[in-house]
Amino acid sequence: MTLEIARTINQIREKVALKRNEGKTVALVPTMGSLHEGHLSLVRQAAEQADIVCVSLFVNPRQFGPDEDFDTYPREEEKDIAKLEKVGAHLLFAPTPEEIYPQGHSTSVDIGALGTILEGEHRPGFFTGVATVVTKLLLQVMPDKAIFGEKDYQQLMVIRKFVRDLNIPVEILSGETVREADGLALSSRNAYLSAEERKVAPFLHHFMQDIAKACSSGETQQARELLNKAPDLLKEAGFDKLDYLELRSSETLSQDHDNEENRRLLAAVWLGKTRLIDNIAIL
Ligand code: PAF
Repeated sequence: MTLEIARTINQIREKVALKRNEGKTVALVPTMGSLHEGHLSLVRQAAEQADIVCVSLFVNPRQFGPDEDFDTYPREEEKDIAKLEKVGAHLLFAPTPEEIYPQGHSTSVDIGALGTILEGEHRPGFFTGVATVVTKLLLQVMPDKAIFGEKDYQQLMVIRKFVRDLNIPVEILSGETVREADGLALSSRNAYLSAEERKVAPFLHHFMQDIAKACSSGETQQARELLNKAPDLLKEAGFDKLDYLELRSSETLSQDHDNEENRRLLAAVWLGKTRLIDNIAIL
């Protein structure tokens, strides 16, 4: 089966309607392209969950700050199409920015406090941009299910929240973070890393694992020390500025997690011009 491509909202609606008329269910995998194994694993997971897998490819200008990498964000649509054909996706929705944000578009989805902490504190407006575009994609495609990677853990929580708050009739699923053999979480932005930086990058995951191990074996004091020393230890390892490395509640991302069983360690750190994010569960 070949991949069908839609460039406009009308086209994707027509294509989805045809599948629905055949009684088929639809799962959406929203992406910004430059697809890697993390995305492809979500596509495979989506195929197990619905008859038709629709992937959206849209580098969303509204989720980039003025000094961020919107212009340089990797764009490689032809390669993405080849990967999607190989993995058996059925529909690709690849609209232009004008299609999504026509002249005069001014509505946005603001999810409140959850969007202002951690990533939201360091990337003001990021989650409003994400929530707005994902709301639009969900209303354009109207899938039964939509699937997002745990790599962007806070994003996943933000999406679950506005889908609930706005009563959008879609089931949100998540897929585990896919990692390189040395532990580095896959990300389209890893393409920015120099050869030297690429060698340094996996340290973040190993360091986070050390903290997670200390936490789960009850060595709270040791975990606290590692967290306190994190800016220095990461600097020694070759990283630049640490935006955050924090232990939070997995359910609410609040700091009051002391009595909670489910905790998550979340981090964002700069390595040269690349900002790496990662998170792991405390088991
Ligand atoms: O995770 C991403 O790639 C993006 O934030 C998303 C969910 C596709 C929205 O633009």
